Amino acid sequence: MFTREELVLVAVSGGKDSLALWEVLIEEGYRTTGLYLDLGIFDYSIESKARCERFAAAHGVPLIITAVADEIGAPVPIIKNVTRRPPCSGCGLSKRYLMNRVALEHGFPVVATGHNLDDEAATLFGSVMHWQTDALPRQSPALAATHPKLVRRVKPLYRLSERETAAYAFLRRIDYIVEECPFAAGATSIAHKEILSRMEEASPGAKHNFLFGFLDRARAAFERVETVALQECARCGQVTTGTVCAFCKLADQVKRAT
Ligand code: AMP
Ligand code: FES
Ligand code: ZN
Repeated sequence: MFTREELVLVAVSGGKDSLALWEVLIEEGYRTTGLYLDLGIFDYSIESKARCERFAAAHGVPLIITAVADEIGAPVPIIKNVTRRPPCSGCGLSKRYLMNRVALEHGFPVVATGHNLDDEAATLFGSVMHWQTDALPRQSPALAATHPKLVRRVKPLYRLSERETAAYAFLRRIDYIVEECPFAAGATSIAHKEILSRMEEASPGAKHNFLFGFLDRARAAFERVETVALQECARCGQVTTGTVCAFCKLADQVKRAT
C-alpha cells in the first residue's frame, strides 16, 4: 500500500477506525499527516473535529483541516436542502474530491482511510444489490493512481471487523467520537450492515468470505477492457469524465440557491 519513506495523508473523521489507523501508523514509524474535513454537521462536526485536534496535539503530528463550506459555498446540511438528495450523496462526493485535491496540493502520494471489513462488505453488498457493475472494479483496498492528478487511495484496515477496531481503540484509550453522523439514521448502508451482521451470526465468517471471495475470485471479471477517458475539469483542473467535474457542478448549484 505504501512504504515507510512515503508521506501518507490519513483521512480522519474523529471516529474509532480512522483514529486507530492513525495511531498504528504513528507507532509503526510511518510519516503521516492527518486530514480532517469539516462537514459543518452541527455538534457532530464540532465534537469530531475536537477529537482529531486533541489526537494530533497529543501525538505531536500535523493535522490539516479543510471546511467543506469554504470549498463549496455551504456546509453538508445546506447542500442536502439545495440538492434534495440524501445528505450522504453530496457529503461523499465532497469528501472524495477534497481528499484527492488536498493530497495533490500538499504533495502526498497516497491517502489512507479507516474503512474496515464491515464498511467494505456493506458497500459491496449495496453495489451487488443494484448490480452497479461500474462500481465493482473500484471496490478495492488499494486503488492505483490512474492519472497524474489522481492520488492513490488505500484502506489498511479492510481485513478488520468493526468490533476489532472498536476493541483496539478502547484498549488503547483512544478518545474517539462514539455518536454516528446524525444523517446516518435510515441510510441504506446501515440496513446493509445489519443484514450482513445477521448473516454473520448465523454463519460466522460470512462477511469475510463475501468480501474476500469477491476480491480474490470475482473482482477481475468486472474490470472493463475499455477504460473511461479521464480529463481535467475546465474549472478546477481535477480529474473528471466530463468537461466540468461533479464537485464544481454541485458548487454552482449551491451558489444559485443560496
Ligand atoms: P465513513 O464514510 O464515515 O464510514 O468513513 C470512512 C472513512 O473515511 C473514515 O475511516 C475516514 O478515514 C474517512 N472520513 C470520513 N469522514 C471524514 C472526515 N470528515 N474527514 C476526513 N476523513 C473522513
Ligand atoms: Fe456525510 Fe453523514 S458523514 S452525511
Ligand atoms: Zn472541477
